[in-house]
Amino acid sequence: MPQTAPTARTRIGVVGAGAVGTSLAYAAMIRGAAQEIALYDLDADRVRAEALDLAHGTMFTGGARVTGSDDVAVLAGADVVVVTAGAKQRPGQTRMDLAAANAAILGSLLPRLLEQAPDAVYVLVTNPCDVLTVVARRISGLPAGRVLASGTVLDTSRLRWLLAEEAGVATGSVHATIVGEHGDSEFPLWSSATIGQVPLREWTVDGRRPFDEQHLAALAERVVGAAYEVIAGKGATNYAIGLAGVRVVEAVLRDEHAVLPVSTVLEDYHGISGVALSVPSVVARPGVVGLPPVPMDAQELTLLRRSAQAIRATLASIGH
Ligand code: LAC
Repeated sequence: MPQTAPTARTRIGVVGAGAVGTSLAYAAMIRGAAQEIALYDLDADRVRAEALDLAHGTMFTGGARVTGSDDVAVLAGADVVVVTAGAKQRPGQTRMDLAAANAAILGSLLPRLLEQAPDAVYVLVTNPCDVLTVVARRISGLPAGRVLASGTVLDTSRLRWLLAEEAGVATGSVHATIVGEHGDSEFPLWSSATIGQVPLREWTVDGRRPFDEQHLAALAERVVGAAYEVIAGKGATNYAIGLAGVRVVEAVLRDEHAVLPVSTVLEDYHGISGVALSVPSVVARPGVVGLPPVPMDAQELTLLRRSAQAIRATLASIGH
């Protein structure tokens, strides 16, 4: 019987054991995203307790080995490093308001992360994640595809949930995507949105077409305001962003070549270069391996350029 080589154990490194980092680790456990999940945080007691609490659930999940430490060496050899550490959005704050503080934290963190996991794909979740993706790319010098952000994967999930609820279909049958900044300038690609094979605007419920321009604009506003709504009620978001982050990690570790709206630094994408924005991207083991040209109408191109400008302005305001 030929001996099959043992498959290498996949390993996720999670930087930050706060609500987002631990929700992401929890989701990764439940979804069996990797064999090893390592949590790193400066707060030794907190990170050890979080890892212990997660490990206690191992019998009920896919058996991932969970560890946690305030020693960055816990991340050694990670295949994917997810950065969730940083100041979080408070009620009334925008994600961009966090740029200076979180860029400084990233600047001090990233060199130490690269020492432990030089070959990893880096996924920025900390906000403003697009701005920090540009910063991380510049600091690390890694190829564009290996530094990405969860970007509007979460916003796309929010949009698809809203549309599915109204259309009376499963979210998996809604093909609509949010692109641009993961933030106030994000927008839906209505021109290519469908439910099943039906163009969104032509979908009917009880004989009428609910998705007219006014209603679509209202839905887009609800997606942009979603995080603010949750933060106002519970102080932060964590579950859905944890799930969105794990979806990106899975696509990498499983070499899926899945098309997801993650954020990478663009080069001549519809004429946009040098800023990170979420656009439909092919995600596989090396990270982002392709950016299929997505048709956009004139209004969408204007909104994409406006989103790029918002990122550029914030980068300039923090001296990057
Ligand atoms: C949100 C945070 C992750 O949109 O930016 O919930």
